[in-house]
Amino acid sequence: MKRILVTGDAGFLGSHLCKRLLDDNNEVLCVDNFFTGRRQNIHELLDYRNFEFMRHDITLPLFVEVDEIYNLACPASPIHYQLDPVQTVKTSVLGVINMLGLAKRLKVKILQASTSEIYGDPSLHPQPESYWGNVNPIGPRACYDEGKRCAETLLFDYHRQHDIAIKVLRIFNTYGPNMQPNDGRVVSNFILQALNDQPLTIYGDGSQTRSFCYVDDLLEGMQRLMGTGLESYSTCGITNEFTEYTPPCD
Ligand SMILES: NC(=O)c1ccc[n+]([C@@H]2O[C@H](COP(=O)([O-])OP(=O)(O)OC[C@H]3O[C@@H](n4cnc5c(N)ncnc54)[C@H](O)[C@@H]3O)[C@@H](O)[C@H]2O)c1
Repeated sequence: MKRILVTGDAGFLGSHLCKRLLDDNNEVLCVDNFFTGRRQNIHELLDYRNFEFMRHDITLPLFVEVDEIYNLACPASPIHYQLDPVQTVKTSVLGVINMLGLAKRLKVKILQASTSEIYGDPSLHPQPESYWGNVNPIGPRACYDEGKRCAETLLFDYHRQHDIAIKVLRIFNTYGPNMQPNDGRVVSNFILQALNDQPLTIYGDGSQTRSFCYVDDLLEGMQRLMGTGLESYSTCGITNEFTEYTPPCD
């Protein structure tokens, strides 16, 4: 049985991830500050003997003992991450530094929930991982886009500097149960408008593209990524396409 830390468990993806980890007989320690998370999302989890919840803001240091860390804490919809943009940056930067510090002390793997938003307003469709993006650093979405970009920078620098085993997952539009109905995401918007017999709103000129993923498929991928070995970004002499970084051979 592993003891696993999940941050942001009271949110949409975190609540599903915790259920899967608990069903796999892991001990799951969750932290959330309820910024966008809801108690009802973790209600069912409280019945599990091996589930523990702690109300905590990840921008503050956390001292716990765990075997793996999934860092999902961060508001994900524009309505929410623009409500308090400074806090959004702090969550992605200070929060990630705290989680990486924990991973470093405990010598455990850490998975970061990153995002397609790191590509900003991309000039390439679909985006290959080798594409570095086109981001406005001072616009209203920058708190999230640049915050998540800095989080990725921190993960790779902790990996290069401190040999932390990192897993970075760039999530695209995911949908499923436990999403907040009114947070402006496209699938929930469409469903609500359809249920209310309203016309479906398509922003822009309708030529934009989105990549959708059902929550179960995303979490399958997330757990499989975490299950990959420690060698992912540290194999001597093998250039990783994702980072274009070749670790030195000793
Ligand atoms: N859902 C998607 O389609 C999608 C797409 C790209 C990336 N992501 C990423 O996946 C993660 C989870 O997304 P989600 O859709 O479940 O979002 P969500 O808003 O439903 O959940 C985020 C959770 O993090 C918590 N949180 C926020 N700031 C915190 C802090 N400082 N300390 C502790 N807890 C905090 C919130 O209370 C909430 O429970 C986020 O990091 C998001 O950026 C999601």
